[in-house]
Amino acid sequence: MSSHFTVVNHPLVQHKLSLMRDKDCPKVLFRQLLREIGQLLAYEVTRDFELENRHIDTPLVPMQAPHLKGKKPALISILRAGNGLLDGVLDLLPAARVGFVGLYRDEETLKPVQYYCKLPKALSERVVIALDPMLATGNSSVAAIDLLKQSGAKNIKFLCLLAAPEGVARMQEAHPDVPIFTAALDERLNEKGYIMPGLGDAGDRMFGTVHG
Ligand code: URA
Repeated sequence: MSSHFTVVNHPLVQHKLSLMRDKDCPKVLFRQLLREIGQLLAYEVTRDFELENRHIDTPLVPMQAPHLKGKKPALISILRAGNGLLDGVLDLLPAARVGFVGLYRDEETLKPVQYYCKLPKALSERVVIALDPMLATGNSSVAAIDLLKQSGAKNIKFLCLLAAPEGVARMQEAHPDVPIFTAALDERLNEKGYIMPGLGDAGDRMFGTVHG
């Protein structure tokens, strides 16, 4: 995998992810762990953010102190599971702008169809972080990134919890300029497009809905 693909293998991330994978993990804990992993992944995805020195006065002396440079980043939740990652990333980037992209799969064409899109202004001037916990086939992620690029985004990063090799390959082919950050690269997709060993349907597990 290229340097545009990062597995955040910090022990805390790996431990929390294992707790989430357990089918008996209660919903409250599942959501809490996703939020905590979101925070830890946010730490990694922001590692190359640019800084600029600005004048401040400490209680003792004036100094030039580093601050984040440029416009506030934009966090884009790919509905609906993206909202689970959003909470944790927002904990670390509370001033970020937030957008939402909703896509469903047309059962005849199997192509993603957009049903909702609300994006922050001036995407071209922001670091844009797209959030979707499960990078499975990659179809919806690729479509969401297409949309962000059509809306002007130039500096995009993709943040997920679990990735399948198929989804990573699809993303890297369609959007080689978009670095991917994940907590784990799993083995494969099953015939229904679920990540294996995975954790099941992230949205259902997060929100307590029934699959269908
Ligand atoms: N989406 C999920 O929620 N889980 C998977 O395993 C694949 C896609």
